[in-house]
Amino acid sequence: MTHIVVLPGDGIGPEITKSALDILRAALEVTGQEDIYSFSEHWIGGAGIDAVNDPCPQETIEACKKADGILLGAIGGPQWEKAPKTPEMGLLQLRQSLELYANVRPTQVRDELVHLSPLKEEIVKGTDFVMFRELIGGLYFGKPKYYTDEEAFDTMYYSRESIERIVRQGFEMAMKRRKKLASIDKANVLANSKLWRQIVQENSKEYPKVDVEYLYVDAAAMKLIANPRDFDVIVTENLFGDILSDEASMLPGSLGLSPSASYSANGPSLYEPIHGSAPDIAGQDKANPLSMILSVTMMLKESFAEDKLAQWIEEVTFSAIEDGFLPGDLGGTTSTSTLTKEIINRLKKGASH
Ligand code: NAD
Ligand code: IPM
Ligand code: MN
Repeated sequence: MTHIVVLPGDGIGPEITKSALDILRAALEVTGQEDIYSFSEHWIGGAGIDAVNDPCPQETIEACKKADGILLGAIGGPQWEKAPKTPEMGLLQLRQSLELYANVRPTQVRDELVHLSPLKEEIVKGTDFVMFRELIGGLYFGKPKYYTDEEAFDTMYYSRESIERIVRQGFEMAMKRRKKLASIDKANVLANSKLWRQIVQENSKEYPKVDVEYLYVDAAAMKLIANPRDFDVIVTENLFGDILSDEASMLPGSLGLSPSASYSANGPSLYEPIHGSAPDIAGQDKANPLSMILSVTMMLKESFAEDKLAQWIEEVTFSAIEDGFLPGDLGGTTSTSTLTKEIINRLKKGASH
């Protein structure tokens, strides 16, 4: 039995999680695999604060450690901003407890859906890159960290080891792809970035086939829009990766299309959309579930080697999008539940996996 821990979280988190799991269950029913997988739900984020006064309960961490795969919807919302321990702190604690240091955020513009991009077709057509974001270091975690009415302090800290392990993941992925690695830093200003760049240079000697490009983060932000096809694998630190991945999500057309996977050295992997709880549309059946559906298919491929099943779900999902079942973020009016039903109907009808 393969056990999946499900952490729906807040806002649109539970809505897109339900959609993606309904779709997964329907697909598993068609392939006769429904008995292989079991699921359990646990608290995370604001939902955890409301239920048990903790955005990252120990029970959730323990369940995650025993899981074969973890799915997380999204966390956060204005009602918990002033909590002593916020939903965001809960998410960061979970990532740290599971040592999820490598966050992989792919960006792909599919030929059939190139019209959904706000950019010109000749710029975005063929875009296909993967961002490796360091997830448990840098400004997010460095101590001291505090603010008072008079001053605030954040610490940017990286050890050699924590840079090296993510950089090497980037090189390994580049070897499997088009052998191009873009390392994004701010080495003209930041000490952390100087060490980062040095370590990329050292490691590049072990990957002579990989063409390495060093970019400052400001220029990289521009180049992502001007020449997105130039990128193959990107490797960058935590905060830069956070910002650049949201920017990159607009190349195919919306934040609502972007999944991610987070890996540790040994433990289970966690799959989650890159976006947040979208309080502005929560509870309105408007969320685009693709970010979560694609997080599920990433899990099927990366954690369970179910490539065929994942590909089938993706093809069917994108066929519905191509046929105009577009949620609001992609310029349409299709609700989350209507799109979900449409995808399930197509899975049941097609069954041609
Ligand atoms: P957000 O990502 O929640 O939303 C940004 C914009 O994108 C909003 O207009 C939203 O409606 C839209 N959007 C996001 N996902 C969508 C989807 N699937 N379908 C359609 N539209 C979608 O970012 P925010 O508004 O800055 O933050 C809201 C809360 O989420 C905050 O509490 C923040 O800390 C949290 N957050 C959590 C995560 C996470 O759980 N991993 C990530 C980012 C932000
Ligand atoms: C993300 C989010 C989180 C981050 C926040 C909610 C802590 O923006 O997953 O991208 O900054 O990592
Ligand atoms: Mn983010």
